[in-house]
Amino acid sequence: MAILNILRYPDARLHKVAEPVKVFDESLKRLVADMAETMYAAPGIGLAASQVDVHKQVIVVDVSERRDSLVVLVNPEIIEAIGVSDIEEGCLSVPGIYDTIERAERIKVRAFDQNGNAFMLQAQGLLSVCIQHEMDHLRGKVFVEHLSQLKQQRIRARIAKQLRKSA
Ligand code: NI
Repeated sequence: MAILNILRYPDARLHKVAEPVKVFDESLKRLVADMAETMYAAPGIGLAASQVDVHKQVIVVDVSERRDSLVVLVNPEIIEAIGVSDIEEGCLSVPGIYDTIERAERIKVRAFDQNGNAFMLQAQGLLSVCIQHEMDHLRGKVFVEHLSQLKQQRIRARIAKQLRKSA
């Protein structure tokens, strides 16, 4: 396994749209294992393949306190979305920035695991919000891009300042 490099917003590669996985092979299993290791090491509660510059529809999520409940979603599709949630979000690609976006409270998702087995998942609360956040990444969208233009300008200015400091 390996820890992968996470792209940082506003890297243009975060805007690529991920392709569905067609072949469930060893390289997919390796990608999932590496993504999980990268997410746990960060540490984070979710990671989309787009964030490690692999533009395939693959997500790993673990919102458990004990970090022992890994959920792998390949080619995820939301087939039902109910209610409104406003849990604060952060993103490994936008460190230090937290904000609230309107998301569905409960979702039903259809997906495959890394072995190609189809399954259905019902999620609510943090898990629901996290899956919606990661699915946005697969569409090339970073959570801050849901915010107002003014907030986005402020975030970009803050990131530019951080980069100047670390340079
Ligand atoms: Ni994210």
